[in-house]
Amino acid sequence: MRAEIGVIGGSGFYSFLEDVEEVEVETPYGPPSDPVALGTVGGRRVAFVPRHGRDHRFPPHRIPYRANLWALRSLGVRQVLAPSAVGSLRREHGPGTLVIPDQLIDRTTGREQTFYDAGGAVHVSFSDPYCPSGRAVAVDAARAIDWAPVETGTLVVIQGPRFSTRAESLSYQQAGATIIGMTGHPEAVLARELALCYTSLALVTDLDAGIEEGEGVTHEEVLAVFAKNSERMRTLVSEAITRLPETRTCPCGHALDGITLPFELP
Ligand code: ADE
Repeated sequence: MRAEIGVIGGSGFYSFLEDVEEVEVETPYGPPSDPVALGTVGGRRVAFVPRHGRDHRFPPHRIPYRANLWALRSLGVRQVLAPSAVGSLRREHGPGTLVIPDQLIDRTTGREQTFYDAGGAVHVSFSDPYCPSGRAVAVDAARAIDWAPVETGTLVVIQGPRFSTRAESLSYQQAGATIIGMTGHPEAVLARELALCYTSLALVTDLDAGIEEGEGVTHEEVLAVFAKNSERMRTLVSEAITRLPETRTCPCGHALDGITLPFELP
């Protein structure tokens, strides 16, 4: 019951693997969003967790992010692919666009965003929040399936669960953000705190409120665009899995080198 690659599926991406074994994992942070499904893609062992739960019962601010990452690592996962639905803050990147972000702005509040609350300070570097190898693989995999991606971008993560006002949306655009979502953080930093590689595969489902002159974003619109693109996202994730390195050479696995940890990693 082990895996090397983890996939955390977003809205509209509740299952991924075939012929799975399901495993209920307990963690110091409670159970993950759902039992983890283990299977094989192109000879690689993969663990899948639906971020919101299979029935979408966890809103973005209630997702057990720590349990999800801890559970994946405890099963042997070292590289994580994270598909998600995002809004676009650039008119030129409309619905259906794939963005592989390289930067992140955290505008969430009150979410548990560290494993290191007690027992000594642990300060991980986070200047580059995403895995460089994973991002390169994602870009190549997307090109290989004829889904030319936007190869860089800044994801702003808002607390939600509401969408942004037009003024907020414009302010994020002016701050340099490219896309906007509700779940990319603390997922990314928790992965880093466990020395995991983490790559975001962001599917634009809508133009955010400050960009679109229409009625503003609705949840129905987000789900409909994700549903329309979910097959393509599945193909992309499978293609990326087969291309991920078997041995990591990126800095992610060294995120905790030289740091005294208050507990052993799973
Ligand atoms: N997820 C999908 N579209 C979004 C938007 N416009 N804002 C925040 N999260 C989103």
